[in-house]
Amino acid sequence: MLYAFSMSRRWSRLWAAILFLTTFWTLTLSDDRRPNFVLFMVDDLGIGDVGCFGNDTIRTPNIDRIASEGAKLTQHLTAEAICTPSRAAFLTGRYPVRMGMAAGGHNWRYFPFAAGAGGLPQNETTFATLLKDAGYSTALVGKWHLGLNCKTSDDHCHHPNRHGFDFFFGTPITNFRECAEGADTMYVNTLAYKRSRNACIALFVASLALLVLKVLGTNKMSWKTVFALLLFAPCFWIPSRFFFSHRLRWMNCILMNNSELVAQPFDLQDDLTPRLLAKSLNFLRENHDRPFLLYHAFLKVHTALFATERFRGRSRHGPYGDNVEEMDWAVGEVLREIDRLGLSENTFVYLSSDNGGHLEEITPEGEVHGGWNGIYKGGKSMGGWEGGIRVPTVLRWPRQVRPGTVISEPTSMMDVFPTVLTLAGAATPGDRAIDGRDLMPLLAGNRTVTEHEFLIHYCGQSLTAARYRPLTGNSVYKAHYMTPIWDEGTGACYSAFGCGCENSWVHYHDPPLLFDIAKDPSESKPLTPKNEPKFAQIVANISRGVEAHRKTLVSVESQFSLRNVLWRPWMQPCCNFPYCSCDLNETSPTLENLPVYEQTSSFPES
Ligand SMILES: *[C@@H]1O[C@H](CO)[C@@H](O)[C@H](O)[C@H]1NC(C)=O
Ligand SMILES: *[C@@H]1O[C@H](CO)[C@@H](O)[C@H](O)[C@H]1NC(C)=O
Ligand SMILES: *[C@@H]1O[C@H](CO)[C@@H](O)[C@H](O)[C@H]1NC(C)=O
Ligand SMILES: *[C@@H]1O[C@H](CO)[C@@H](O)[C@H](O)[C@H]1NC(C)=O
Ligand SMILES: *[C@@H]1O[C@H](CO)[C@@H](O)[C@H](O)[C@H]1NC(C)=O
Ligand SMILES: *[C@@H]1O[C@H](CO)[C@@H](O)[C@H](O)[C@H]1NC(C)=O
Repeated sequence: MLYAFSMSRRWSRLWAAILFLTTFWTLTLSDDRRPNFVLFMVDDLGIGDVGCFGNDTIRTPNIDRIASEGAKLTQHLTAEAICTPSRAAFLTGRYPVRMGMAAGGHNWRYFPFAAGAGGLPQNETTFATLLKDAGYSTALVGKWHLGLNCKTSDDHCHHPNRHGFDFFFGTPITNFRECAEGADTMYVNTLAYKRSRNACIALFVASLALLVLKVLGTNKMSWKTVFALLLFAPCFWIPSRFFFSHRLRWMNCILMNNSELVAQPFDLQDDLTPRLLAKSLNFLRENHDRPFLLYHAFLKVHTALFATERFRGRSRHGPYGDNVEEMDWAVGEVLREIDRLGLSENTFVYLSSDNGGHLEEITPEGEVHGGWNGIYKGGKSMGGWEGGIRVPTVLRWPRQVRPGTVISEPTSMMDVFPTVLTLAGAATPGDRAIDGRDLMPLLAGNRTVTEHEFLIHYCGQSLTAARYRPLTGNSVYKAHYMTPIWDEGTGACYSAFGCGCENSWVHYHDPPLLFDIAKDPSESKPLTPKNEPKFAQIVANISRGVEAHRKTLVSVESQFSLRNVLWRPWMQPCCNFPYCSCDLNETSPTLENLPVYEQTSSFPES
């Protein structure tokens, strides 16, 4: 009895101590200790488009300000050179291939329809979910592109609300070229499109000729055949033209407020940037007194390009430059709000781009609508070339990062996951492989060499290249096992609007094409056994890293099966059937009546 009594006394003391400690801990944490996070993701911004990365003709003073008050990451890499897998990896800290978020066998490496079934699987855990569980307010404003529904038009199984975001305002898919009213599809520039168009025209002209001959009595074909031929050409041509150029706008260019469709299609030209910005500013105001995570994912600077009137025609690089400058302005407005709320010291700010500039994005008139990747080779959609995966990245965290820090070691966008969780005091999941590494030791100067001895570069499910950073020395090697086949004499796949990942799309290299990108960042002078005595050893070391990575992979169901990516009519989101056309103007404040809008002085005069 006595023993039991003393035990329970001891237990209760222990409990009291634990309770005291947890209360103390939560109190100190809620006492302004836990940082806030504001993460910006720009769409398709090239590393050569930003002032602090060397561009002297585009004005990005606000991004440059983050770098000068914090750090610039000059070798920050996305997990794939295309949006959907890159964003999946960003949010989960894992290679897309681990979650079925990497395509194989076809070239839909992103979700092309809101009415598709693929998406970020429910058992994948984003940092938003873990922060929400730890008591953070979480919001996503802008682009998601990680799926929407599984079976019906509104089961929302892949919706951001299901992946840890309390608040979502934006598009579940992305901005497409077709989202601009009357714009042509992105496929009009491709060879396949031009060929099918020419074939249709030729067929139509030939059937007209056959009809004339039939009328003249010199054609022995039956009337039926002649009419069938005559009908076939336009029937093949018109639907594809109409569908891809016009209907896509209603199908995909949609805005949601949490689970409600509020605009179909959305209005790009006038108000989209301020409209999204207003949501982020409101979120900051409503949540400034508790820990929060704001993920502001721009629809810019992807096509369709759009800008409010005061940015139109202002830059020196046409509509593309106008878009970069307006995006930078919006970043500045968020920073000003953070300052105004007195949160600068305690807010971790990060900005990056989901992949490099899209080189093939050129209008039929020849105007460049894609980004610029500076000295780096290749761009969006290509496997392992630097231009597609090395993205302009800046961050600011006054508590531990000295102003003007420059990190040129290889880092990955997947590193944001453990970094954010560690700073927030939340545990990183132990039940799965996490490929990201905490950035803080590098940023705070406690480490000089990256923790990523190896980084693997994928194109869909194809392992195209691997990066090797030996623990000593200054070299960073990259071995390409395959490289995209470009249009003759160019540095991109213009005739297909982007490059594919396997088979006839690529050159295979055995032994791999090897570069030391620390010395040769433009990947123009391959290392060979002749000019690099350690060639065999380097290649063997890289193979070792690749093999170790391969051993950690398990096969999972692909979210990119054709079944999952293609349009399912019954899953089409529609705000008022059968019109599917609406724009519910929200009742919450728009940017016009937010005070900060009037104070704006950051708009650069040209
Ligand atoms: C700045 O960006 C523009 C637009 O992408 C590009 O055309 C130009 O070459 C860049 N300038 C430099 C110095 O990189
Ligand atoms: C860096 O090292 C210092 C001193 O050892 C330590 O107090 C600090 O927590 C470390 N910071 C990081 C981010 O590793
Ligand atoms: C290859 O890896 C071994 C073991 O890590 C290391 O000792 C050696 O220096 C590496 N060789 C090269 C050329 O990086
Ligand atoms: C998620 O579920 C799929 C299918 O059941 C499985 O293959 C995968 O390993 C699971 N992933 C995690 C992280 O648990
Ligand atoms: C929404 O607002 C815009 C601009 O203020 C206006 O042009 C449009 O007619 C409004 N739509 C509705 C449905 O009220
Ligand atoms: C979004 O929907 C919520 C209800 O879920 C509503 O209270 C709010 O006003 C709406 N906000 C916007 C910006 O449409």
